[in-house]
Amino acid sequence: METISPSGQVDQVFLRCVEDCFEPIMLTDITGKLTYVNPAWVLTYGYQKHEAIGQTPRLLRSPGENPDFYKNMWKTILDPNIGFWRGEVINQAKDGHLVPVLLTITPYRESGGEIKGYMGIAVDLSDQKRMEEQILRQDRLASIGMLAGGLAHEVGNPLGAIRGRAEMVMNQVRGNEEAEKNLELIIGQIDRISGLIQSLLRVSRVPGQILLRNVELAPIVKEVFVLMQEACHRAGIELRTNNLDFQISADSSHLQQLFLNLIINSQHAIEEIKQKSTDTAKKHVIEVSAKKKPSGNVVVSVKDTGCGISSENLRKIFQPFYTTKAAGKGTGLGLSIVAKLVEEMNGNLTVESEGVGQGATFHIEFNEAVNR
Ligand SMILES: Nc1ncnc2c1ncn2[C@@H]1O[C@H](COP(=O)(O)OP(=O)(O)O)[C@@H](O)[C@H]1O
Ligand SMILES: [Mg+2]
Repeated sequence: METISPSGQVDQVFLRCVEDCFEPIMLTDITGKLTYVNPAWVLTYGYQKHEAIGQTPRLLRSPGENPDFYKNMWKTILDPNIGFWRGEVINQAKDGHLVPVLLTITPYRESGGEIKGYMGIAVDLSDQKRMEEQILRQDRLASIGMLAGGLAHEVGNPLGAIRGRAEMVMNQVRGNEEAEKNLELIIGQIDRISGLIQSLLRVSRVPGQILLRNVELAPIVKEVFVLMQEACHRAGIELRTNNLDFQISADSSHLQQLFLNLIINSQHAIEEIKQKSTDTAKKHVIEVSAKKKPSGNVVVSVKDTGCGISSENLRKIFQPFYTTKAAGKGTGLGLSIVAKLVEEMNGNLTVESEGVGQGATFHIEFNEAVNR
């Protein structure tokens, strides 16, 4: 790094400050090429110093950034009346994950006043954004809860009555095939609406007191596979397990619902990629596997070879009502329910996908079963 003052000692202090600074700092020359990055920068973005030096900060640009945005940014920096730029940008680290930062760019000058280059200081906003999203989610869930409560009462009760009557009529028309078929259709549609109301109630319910027990993982996954076997076989998907001999602290019916939701999503994702792809020979698999962490916690992963999730959509998929599926096929509530179930079992849910076309993996970390 270049010296800032003629006094070597002061320069050393400045250098240490910049090197030890917790915020990522980068310097560029007048042409915008990186001449220095500090260790916090390397840690945040994952590029080594030698990979960064000589490149421009464009290295960190995330897809979807508007080019006009950068034009305006440079205009502001070079405007002598303003002289710096500060704003929120979303950078992309080397491994592809997005890093929201508050970035300040200031020119630095020679003693004569000529601009020599630019300094960028970024404040990583990831934790803050995560917290904001969580608060927003809780807010949204609270509104859904109120709506669902009202619906359960105002729609659910009359629906119950309609269903009861439909079943009565069904008994009266036994033998009349056409009438039976129509009634079945009516009952099927009523059950769909009731199911949706139940999902809404589920998603928005305040985490209740559930009794966590030591549960064997393997038999639960097997039960869910039995339920899914037929549909997956028809879609040409292999269901696979790997190393599930663990006990976890959980609730069996919560676990069943959770795996069912994740596996149905995987099945849909594979069906989608199969529709688009011409590679009919590709083998499609949904695999449930588990691993014990040194802490004793068990991480269960549901991995598929489906259509994958873009990094932009990864942030949205846990939002209630977010769906990429056609009406009737998706409600956008499945993953919200999964998140709720995991929360009630004191677990931790994460997702990863290399991107579109690359499959997706959901990981759920469970607490270790306790000895009783
Ligand atoms: N395994 C997966 N692979 C690819 N995309 C997925 C996967 N699981 C979920 N998604 C995406 O997340 C969205 C939300 O999922 P979910 O909450 O279960 O609602 P729904 O299945 O009703 O759309 C889906 O519409 C899909 O875009
Ligand atoms: Mg779903």
